[in-house]
Amino acid sequence: MANAPLWWQTGVIYQVYPRSFQDTNGDGVGDLRGITARLDYLVTLGVDAVWISPFYPSPMADFGYDVADYTDVDPLFGSLADFDELIAAAHQRGLKLILDFVPNHTSDQHPWFLESRSSRSNRKRDWYLWHNPAPPGDDWHPARERVPNNWMSHFGGSAWTWDEATEQFYLHSFLKQQPDLNWRNPDVRAAMYAAMRFWLDRGVDGFRMDVLWLLIKDADFRSNPRNPDWNPSWQDHASVVPKFTSDRPETHDIVREMRTMMDGYAGGRVLIGEIYLPLPELVRYYGPGTKTDEAVPQLSGAHLPFNFHLIQTHWEASAVAGIVQEYERLLPAGAWPNYVLGNHDQSRLATRVGAAQARVAAMLLLTLRGTPTLYYGDELGMTDVPIAPEQVQDPAEKNEPGKGRGRDPERSPMLWVDAPHAGFTPPESEPWLPMLDSYATLNAATQAKDSRSLFTLYRTLLHLRRQHDTLHAGEIADVTVEGTLLRYRRVALEDGHSTDFLVLLNFGDEPVTTYVPRGTVLLTTILDGAGATTESEQMVEGNEGILIALG
Ligand code: GLC
Ligand code: CA
Repeated sequence: MANAPLWWQTGVIYQVYPRSFQDTNGDGVGDLRGITARLDYLVTLGVDAVWISPFYPSPMADFGYDVADYTDVDPLFGSLADFDELIAAAHQRGLKLILDFVPNHTSDQHPWFLESRSSRSNRKRDWYLWHNPAPPGDDWHPARERVPNNWMSHFGGSAWTWDEATEQFYLHSFLKQQPDLNWRNPDVRAAMYAAMRFWLDRGVDGFRMDVLWLLIKDADFRSNPRNPDWNPSWQDHASVVPKFTSDRPETHDIVREMRTMMDGYAGGRVLIGEIYLPLPELVRYYGPGTKTDEAVPQLSGAHLPFNFHLIQTHWEASAVAGIVQEYERLLPAGAWPNYVLGNHDQSRLATRVGAAQARVAAMLLLTLRGTPTLYYGDELGMTDVPIAPEQVQDPAEKNEPGKGRGRDPERSPMLWVDAPHAGFTPPESEPWLPMLDSYATLNAATQAKDSRSLFTLYRTLLHLRRQHDTLHAGEIADVTVEGTLLRYRRVALEDGHSTDFLVLLNFGDEPVTTYVPRGTVLLTTILDGAGATTESEQMVEGNEGILIALG
């Protein structure tokens, strides 16, 4: 390898959903001081960076993804002073801090939008996407019903809302309380880059950019093609193919601008993009290479366009192998891979794949080539919490009930100890979402004492990943499938000290026997059998993963 790998290449990212991590003032909602109080847990677990979902001032229509001020902290979560303490405490422990930045839209209460909607001639009118009603057709409709085109909100209904006072529609890709910014306007770009600088100057180590692939919409506001497969039991936004509202070519210019600005800061600040696209389109977000004369080109886009394909696939050896192979083949030279297995918008890992396969998933995520991102509580095997209709908080579920969009189940508070409310909030407080009733065994304290727990498996894997160059920086080779078994090798760097590894992952319930070369079992997902030597035939139990040091 030409250059020593950077922290976000060798490290592991841990996502904290701040409302649900640790409450310190008894209001039932997690806060920044709570994160600070739990940093030692993250050090013990062995992750390297913390990404925190938004904590900016917000009316909380979308729980903080509706930002009313990009350069402050919502009182619900604390203060800027609390933030400064958090970042200092994190850095003191060698942890990096990544913020969630929401560039596509603001809150409708943001002063920019209040100005923009105040009159058609306001100087910030063009900061958002305003449009006249469509011309009246043969069947007469009032202007407020004549939406400019068929663009749909991700959270149900049209993406256009009528503004009575100024008699135009404004665009919102999500809630009507989340108006989309006009990223073609250079003043908007400058304002957003200034907000990013505010945090970079305060020492943050990078950003996870919300819905990065949606920033630019078609300049001519052309209607999207209809989706012929759609039926009314699906979400509204699936009724059209988002040809003119997503992954527009000009988006890449913005990503490059963000990257250039961040490259001006020392210490390797990381630019991560939330991007849900097929692999061929996804890898384009790494950007083109800038220095073609170098062996490893310097790319100019996002450092890590999030790869969600392991979340979206069928949980089968062949499907996972297919993703890894296609991804490795498509990655441009100089691009660093990454994998995500859970986040605050997706059903929990342990619910999707089951408790037994959650162990296999842990070994997969932490032994593939590239940066892994963990979602809080997945290291404990937390499952989706059942949400009764009267408990629903998520606006996506409220707008389209029963269509499977609800994200409350995966946002249930973290389980720390075996006690009522699991140490998240005092027993007499009311947590903002219901807690899992499995807290007696699934909590962090109990699992930390158990040498066979999922937490111990994660901690051991994270430790091994740090210890062995090959596991965090080596190549991947020989990705193959034998029935329900996925196997691959991680291949040593040529520095003379590294080891080759073989990973065997059984995605099925039945044992599988496979050929293995001579080596030593480093770890099994059932946390038993380490130290055994291998030679020729190796049995892999159902739902088992084995990590072998070859040679
Ligand atoms: C992203 C966030 C999601 C949010 C949406 C709108 O997808 O992950 O939680 O609701 O953007 O900001
Ligand atoms: Ca609180």
